[in-house]
Amino acid sequence: MKYGYFEDKNKEYIITNPKTPVKWINYVGTLNFGGFVDHTGGALICKGDPSLNRIVKYIQQMPSSDFKGETLYLRFRQRNGYKLFSPFFVPTLDQYDLYECHVGLGYTRIISEFYGIRTECTIFVPIDDIREIREVKITNKTGEELEIDAVSVVEYTHFDAVRQFNNADWVPQTMQSRCIQEEDGLLTLIQYAFMRRETNVNFFTSNHPISSFESDRKRFLGDNEYGTWSNPLSLQKKELGNYEAHRGDNIGALLHHLGSLKPGETKSFITQLGQEQSFEKARHGIEKYRNPEAVKKAYNELNGFWEEFLSRIQVETPDPAMNSMLNIHNPRQCFITKNWSRYLSYYQLGMGTRGIGFRDGSQDVMGVIDHIPEESKELLKRMMMVQRINGSAMHSFNPLTMEGSKGETDDWPDRPQYYGDDHLWIVLAVTTYLKETGDMEFLKEVIPYYKEKKESQLQESGTVLDHMKRALDFTRNDKGRHGLPHLGFADWNDTVNLRTGAESLFNAHLYGKDLLEMIELCNYLGDMAWVKSYQEEYDELKETFNRTSWDGEWYVRYFDPDGTPLGSHKNENGKIYINAQSWSLISGMALPERAEKALDSLNRLLNTAKGIKVSWPGFDGYDTTKGGITTYPPGAKENGGIFLHTNPWVVIAETIMGNGERAYEYYSQINPAAKNEIIDEYECEPYVYAQNILSNEHPQFGLGRNSWLTGTASWMYQAGTGFILGIRPDYNGLVIDPCIPKKWDGFKVTRKYKNAVYNIEVKNPKHMSKGVYRLKVDSREINGNVAPVFGDGKTHSIEAVMG
Ligand code: GLC
Repeated sequence: MKYGYFEDKNKEYIITNPKTPVKWINYVGTLNFGGFVDHTGGALICKGDPSLNRIVKYIQQMPSSDFKGETLYLRFRQRNGYKLFSPFFVPTLDQYDLYECHVGLGYTRIISEFYGIRTECTIFVPIDDIREIREVKITNKTGEELEIDAVSVVEYTHFDAVRQFNNADWVPQTMQSRCIQEEDGLLTLIQYAFMRRETNVNFFTSNHPISSFESDRKRFLGDNEYGTWSNPLSLQKKELGNYEAHRGDNIGALLHHLGSLKPGETKSFITQLGQEQSFEKARHGIEKYRNPEAVKKAYNELNGFWEEFLSRIQVETPDPAMNSMLNIHNPRQCFITKNWSRYLSYYQLGMGTRGIGFRDGSQDVMGVIDHIPEESKELLKRMMMVQRINGSAMHSFNPLTMEGSKGETDDWPDRPQYYGDDHLWIVLAVTTYLKETGDMEFLKEVIPYYKEKKESQLQESGTVLDHMKRALDFTRNDKGRHGLPHLGFADWNDTVNLRTGAESLFNAHLYGKDLLEMIELCNYLGDMAWVKSYQEEYDELKETFNRTSWDGEWYVRYFDPDGTPLGSHKNENGKIYINAQSWSLISGMALPERAEKALDSLNRLLNTAKGIKVSWPGFDGYDTTKGGITTYPPGAKENGGIFLHTNPWVVIAETIMGNGERAYEYYSQINPAAKNEIIDEYECEPYVYAQNILSNEHPQFGLGRNSWLTGTASWMYQAGTGFILGIRPDYNGLVIDPCIPKKWDGFKVTRKYKNAVYNIEVKNPKHMSKGVYRLKVDSREINGNVAPVFGDGKTHSIEAVMG
């Protein structure tokens, strides 16, 4: 069964059957204002923060058939009452003649036909704006004149998303709605929690006269709420109740009498849902966007933004699925993860303290630095603001309050209260930023450190370079019995929570990679004393690692405080872990013969046709000495599941080994575009990466979950563009270092870099996997494989011949 198809020329995926295995979503706007829209028109919208300033109530856990957040009803008269249906399929579930949900870049357009009525609804948030726009066009295709009414509906939540669900006394007493009558039958419904009446007012309005409205859910559904969303009883009456809610479950429902539509005739209207300090403050914008021309302009601007965004890197390889991902869907997902971190999706509920993750944000940034350098820099700065004076970092922060959170550590008071890897990610993210932009001044910017207890001392600050050095110092001084970095509460793998004193090879590798980055950076800056110091530390770490952590066929992953390894053939469960192999190469710490063996073992013991498992065999039973990993059954998530975030690291490791076949195989086997044919098994959106797929240790092998917000996006993008195609920035230019399948004749890449356009053509006449033997820059042959920095605003042609 298929539910849709890719339409690359319009940069869309088009869903043609609304009964997808789970809701498939798309994002509109940004964290400043926006959220997601599902393919049946439901939406979750917030402003600034989904936890503390949420606007729309959307309950992911309810069945797909339920009303979720927003919808549109249409109705026409029948002999006894009205025929009522939703052109979005949900919540009325009528039989459709046509259903298309166009998942576009920053917009969703639903086109449907029911009972001879065609509806086209485009949903988006204008750039840098504070409103969700729904432009609705309704066409009468029945062949007869027909009178049609349209009712747009939103259900509000209390701004504090958790309170909405854990308090049914205070919350409903505070929720209020008012109607502001304007000229010519226009009106705006405003809604707020009483304490925010003067500061945060939600508005819902249309550019079409509204004959009546409702703001109380109970009255809208009717019969003391024994009326349902699939058949709201108030919609059987000519007009709604015009009731301004003084409490209770607030909604906004706007009744548009569109009047009589002749055969073939189309009528349109535009609704806006937003939030401002007051209606008066919102009025100007409301009036502006009542004009279809303004909406069109905003829509074109949105398209223009994406055009420019995607133009930063465009590829032409022999693989259409890879092209589709690298040119459209993968960079879009990178933008979304950079915006929303792990905060708000169909699976991440965005409530409570989670916020923007330190390690997650650092990795997400790495996927978009070339596209949006300024925004990337802002996020890097914000993250450094939650780095502690000792160099370690808070696990996450709330973007509105900048309050840091310690993550899950509170549940385990006897374990370390920090994560061993968080702070280390910032070093890699900053050096990636520097290589891409050349903005070395950034290193001098002064950023305050985070203080958990705010009362006392003065705030301490340091330059960006200081923040990086402190991150490394923290780990340098935080080692265990083998001289390897401590695990802390957890490393990248959140769920392995060993007893205090445990050591982590992942932290060792990330630290090693950071040290390499710092050696390169300090070399570039000419700071040889630091080069020497970091080099000595790196050499010692590498020696310690190889002395202690080789298990015979692969590298181990952790040491318990008593020195017992985990990720060793000696273990019954968790004999081998993926990251211990891939990162031993990424960090440059694996000895050559071991590197090859480690990757072969990984291939033999962890690879499946649907992706590589994070570890094997899974734990089968809850065990507090191992921690969260044992809360999952074997084959799920971090307990031996296919945790996709780790897969691109193996792709990168294989390219380091020069193994283009395997790198490409690993890349392709998890390409979601290739899942379109087996989507009933996989279930998630085929146009984005999911976080995890159940592995062959689980009865539902192949089932994907937690799509969109995953580090897989950033790393697959980096692996695809920077390591398979091998085009990656360095301090002195653009490195051209492909590692491709031998059968490829070559490929092309257009990449913008430091204010110039690089038109790169790679030729592979001898059918090699790796190695550039000739590089021509604007027809002149140069030594090496680095295209220089031009910075001249011009287009340059680069020809690389492999061999
Ligand atoms: C989730 C977390 C991420 C973590 C990963 C593995 O994706 O957001 O921070 O690294 O799980 O545990």
